[in-house]
Amino acid sequence: MMTLSERQEARRARKKDAARNRTVGLIAPLAAALVVFAGPAGAQTTEAVSHGHIPYRVSSDCMVCHGMRGSATDYGVIPRLAGQHKSYLVMQLNQFKKHTRADQNGQLYMWPVAQGLTTRQINEVATYFAAQRPRFGSSGVSHKGVAAGKAIFTNGVTSEQIPACAECHGANAQGAGTFPDIAGQRYEYIVQQLKYFHNGTRKNELMNQIAKNITPAQEKEVAAYLSSL
Ligand code: HEC
Ligand code: HEC
Repeated sequence: MMTLSERQEARRARKKDAARNRTVGLIAPLAAALVVFAGPAGAQTTEAVSHGHIPYRVSSDCMVCHGMRGSATDYGVIPRLAGQHKSYLVMQLNQFKKHTRADQNGQLYMWPVAQGLTTRQINEVATYFAAQRPRFGSSGVSHKGVAAGKAIFTNGVTSEQIPACAECHGANAQGAGTFPDIAGQRYEYIVQQLKYFHNGTRKNELMNQIAKNITPAQEKEVAAYLSSL
């Protein structure tokens, strides 16, 4: 029979293994994507080639992580792009390209991609993803705290000077223009972005102020609500 500490040791090892597998899972598509960027042929043909109405850069790069229609759900930290506002997508791609969006996952996964995009390609891929449906693509996974999250979204938290998210993102979290649509966005992605705004590695005057006092529990609650829409 295993002693308690042996059992704990085994459980720790299994967890570490699972964590390592998760990381490898996310790195693998990145490595595949990097091979695509690195190929000189890929770089030269990007302007000319197009596969039907799908922009070439979507089928060559973006689909590896975001899926062909911008709704992939394999990795929770990869955002849904389908139905997102075009001007917001353009702005974020430019921020990755200019390195002004410098949070960790942005640096790791989006800097290499955005580096190779021309202004015309940014416009093309943003137009394409903005036009994809369903607009509110809930991932179908439910998380605890939906009711509490809805209260934060609708009313804010007065004692912590957190304003109602609905003031800017709209009553249904649909956003507008450069205010992102966050309805049905991925749970892990939302939690991660709120942490980045909270610790200041993703810079935005409005969101840095709003996330300053948010607690880890509140991040999860509001993400549970938004991802359920
Ligand atoms: C290697 C995987 C990978 C590839 C390839 C990739 N992305 Fe991303 N993308 C990510 C991850 C991860 C994030 C989240 C980054 C963060 O947390 O800052 C992201 C974020 C984004 C965002 C920000 C969305 C938001 O809601 O703020 C946009 C826009 C985007 N990607 C567009 C694209 C486009 C267009 C392509 C193809 C030209 C592409 N991505 C290719 C992994 C990838
Ligand atoms: C004063 C206006 C304002 C309020 C209030 C506000 N937001 Fe935002 N939010 C923004 C803007 C603008 C952006 C885009 C930031 C950027 O360009 O990087 C944003 C971005 C976000 C993002 C990143 C979306 C993505 O696709 O990467 C999340 C998540 C978010 N807000 C959640 C919230 C939550 C939760 C609340 C309430 C606690 C809230 N916001 C309140 C203006 C606001």
